[in-house]
Amino acid sequence: MSSSISILYDTIRWEEKALFEAGKKKGVDIRMVDCRGLAINLDSTVEEFGTTIQRCVSYYRSLHSTAALEGKGVDVINSLNTSIYAGNKLFTHMLLLKHGIRTPFSTVAFSEDAALNYLEKRGYPMVLKPTVGSWGRMISLLKDRDSAEGIMETREKMYPIYQVYYLEELVNRPPRDIRAIMVGDTVVAAIYRYSGEGQWKTNMALGGKAEPFKVTKEMEDICIKAKNAVQGQIVGIDLMESEENGLVVHEINNTTEYKNTVRVTGVDIPALMIDYALQSRK
Ligand SMILES: Nc1ncnc2c1ncn2[C@@H]1O[C@H](COP(=O)(O)OP(=O)(O)O)[C@@H](O)[C@H]1O
Ligand SMILES: [Mg+2]
Repeated sequence: MSSSISILYDTIRWEEKALFEAGKKKGVDIRMVDCRGLAINLDSTVEEFGTTIQRCVSYYRSLHSTAALEGKGVDVINSLNTSIYAGNKLFTHMLLLKHGIRTPFSTVAFSEDAALNYLEKRGYPMVLKPTVGSWGRMISLLKDRDSAEGIMETREKMYPIYQVYYLEELVNRPPRDIRAIMVGDTVVAAIYRYSGEGQWKTNMALGGKAEPFKVTKEMEDICIKAKNAVQGQIVGIDLMESEENGLVVHEINNTTEYKNTVRVTGVDIPALMIDYALQSRK
């Protein structure tokens, strides 16, 4: 039994500061833990963490610190399973399909040649994504064979994960997507994200603009199913409005950013996260 909540971070962004402030306001003992300073002895009991909200930006640091702490019995939000499933777009895709949730049509190829052969048969354009990544980084629109070869060639020299060629249909949608923040079984706030000047991706990190989105029952039902598919607790779900297929889920973020969602909707997401962590405390 512990009375504290830990915020595990490697960079302090607006989100982490806001969580700390929200906890302080509620009189909760909030511990800010810099993951970069940790050496967790895996063979002895870990020091008191309390319920831990995982906020590391680095994918590998986040995944492995969650594994270590959860393995030692610490209640980490989100869990290791969620970090594994949501942290990888291919793994998420398979779970969304399994749970009957619409998601962009995708193909995975395991070499540059196999990807190019597939694209030749299917036709362009397609979207190539690293299975692990965020902020729209390294997501490329393959318009034709020339651009595909150029982009894939550079990936051949990178870390092996970039030689997994995860390809998605280019979804026919308005120039925006939807980011829904879920705390437990509720979409607590959602925004439209419009792509920035000269961009087709709608990530805020790429200059996207945000507007409030009024949560609908249809959308919330999809989000609940998507969250459950990856065993999530507090997640950011990205959806697109496909002209042909309606709402499709294309990503689930397990350490989601929410600064713009708070700014645009006025919903106190950090306070709701702290409440959730308090109530999930063992
Ligand atoms: N299949 C697609 N069709 C059209 N636009 C897409 C597609 N996939 C992603 N996008 C755009 O690119 C952005 C980034 O893609 P996403 O899968 O969310 O990766 P990231 O983890 O980098 O945010 C999306 O928010 C959306 O605007
Ligand atoms: Mg995204």
